[in-house]
Amino acid sequence: METLVKNLFNSKMTFLLFLFLTAMMSSAFLFQQKEWKAPASADAKKNPLANDAGTIAAGKTVYVKECQSCHGKTGKGDGPSAKDLDIPAGNFTLAATQGQSDGALFWKISEGRKPMPSFKKKLNETQIWQSVVYMRTLKK
Ligand code: HEC
Repeated sequence: METLVKNLFNSKMTFLLFLFLTAMMSSAFLFQQKEWKAPASADAKKNPLANDAGTIAAGKTVYVKECQSCHGKTGKGDGPSAKDLDIPAGNFTLAATQGQSDGALFWKISEGRKPMPSFKKKLNETQIWQSVVYMRTLKK
């Protein structure tokens, strides 16, 4: 009798452990966003704007109005709305972002990925390119 109780207890514990592990694994799977990669074709799109003071100033205007609330003044992902996001808004000063092509950044800004909004309807292509040029000034 004692062994039966022990066995029952053990198998129940094993079962609970199994349930617990499965739950842990699936939640990790659900909540971890996969790395966001622009399609290779995006790299081919060339920035048509001059990298000059005028473009940077125009890009800053777009950035302050549309991006800074999440991405922060210096692009570190520490804007006032960042704390309400489920995932970090990234850090534009790092090589992980700066190492991407202009075309890839243009694509990401155009398409968005939750919670980052898509900007292709809100901004025109020139404004999106301006924001890309401005992002380059946030490099460390
Ligand atoms: C509502 C908050 C929010 C706003 C507003 C926002 N973003 Fe984002 N952005 C995010 C989040 C969150 C991510 C990370 C998304 C992910 O990894 O899935 C992100 C990611 C990015 C990335 C990809 C960075 C990388 O390293 O790959 C770029 C580029 C970007 N944002 C640019 C912009 C620009 C430019 C604007 C304004 C035109 C903007 N974002 C506005 C929240 C925002």
